[in-house]
Amino acid sequence: MTGLPPLPGGEALGEAMAAALPGMPDPAGAEFTTRLEHDLAKAFSTRDAVAVSSGTTALHAALSAIGIGPGDEVLLPALTVVMTASPVVLLGATLVFVDSDPDTHDLDYADAAAKVTARTKAIVPVHLWGRMGDPARLRSFAAERGLTIVEDAAQAMGTSRAGIKAGTVGAAGCFSLKDGKILWSGEGGFILADGSRLSAAARAFRSHWLQPPPGGRPQERSSLNGRLAEPLAALAQANLRRFPALLEHRRAQTAHLIRALEGIRGITPLEPAADETWNHYAPLLRVSLTNPRLFAERLAQQGVPNSTGSFRLVPCDTRPMFTSPDRTPCRGAAQILDRTLALVLTERDSEAALDRYAAVIAREAAAWSA
Ligand SMILES: Cc1ncc(COP(=O)(O)O)c(C=O)c1O
Repeated sequence: MTGLPPLPGGEALGEAMAAALPGMPDPAGAEFTTRLEHDLAKAFSTRDAVAVSSGTTALHAALSAIGIGPGDEVLLPALTVVMTASPVVLLGATLVFVDSDPDTHDLDYADAAAKVTARTKAIVPVHLWGRMGDPARLRSFAAERGLTIVEDAAQAMGTSRAGIKAGTVGAAGCFSLKDGKILWSGEGGFILADGSRLSAAARAFRSHWLQPPPGGRPQERSSLNGRLAEPLAALAQANLRRFPALLEHRRAQTAHLIRALEGIRGITPLEPAADETWNHYAPLLRVSLTNPRLFAERLAQQGVPNSTGSFRLVPCDTRPMFTSPDRTPCRGAAQILDRTLALVLTERDSEAALDRYAAVIAREAAAWSA
């Protein structure tokens, strides 16, 4: 018997996907995608939403839509995954990694300011683990320097800060629907945008520039197929109906796990900011044991999935494709990743599974002497 709130509507997911099948095959069909976009815009109170095939494509399409290209520089935190960085490189622009503040996990704005040049066009904040930086600070930093904000909110659906939803701070908010995200469809992504020109350019980008934005010509640019498959759009739409319950469930899972970990030596929960409504994407713990990264790897080996131990998450500026001898490493980002245990949950983690994770963490922390 689980003490977590029940999750309604699981059976509706199969029915929703099946509902897309009678209209297939239809090479031009986008009925479920269009409906999903309508529902997403409503749920996030934005003018428009553009559904795409992944979170990476969402970032690629949004950065392309704001005109990022060769010669431009784009600021992004080193505290992120490669999927945030690759679209910048693929558009021919230059990545400029910015450090993060180890206390707040927000961008290190002094470092960001020092790295702005005449070529800097955009800033891509990343709400890693669903935690959001200060949106007012970000907006004023960007406005003072004429930068466009494109958020990587892939993990942050449902988070807000000072009443501002993640993904609605700047020109575009990019989300992933990959399995493992709170709102999911197996693979997929979407962009929230308030500018109709930006969404039109993102729609053109996701489909080979066949239908250009107003005033443009078909195929005057080359782009990609970044469309979302219709059955996945139907699945995402059905999950969007469950979204409030999915959020509540994740909040309860995280609260349960954090409670079960109370009083364990060297493990302290990381609280969100006072004005933040966090989606509780990943229970976050500061580890003050020796060799915390090794500890995270040990937990992963013992069946407790986590960001650094299971996925070897390291600062993006240290990935081989992005290292450069003339660049100072982002030490704040490295410190955050080394010391933060971010547990990876899915809606399928029952109370018993969470208790098992907690028991393993307690046992390993008590025995840890590495
Ligand atoms: C922070 C972040 N950015 C971007 C992505 C890319 O999303 P996708 O895997 O859907 O391409 C992900 C998801 O894995 C992510 O967690």
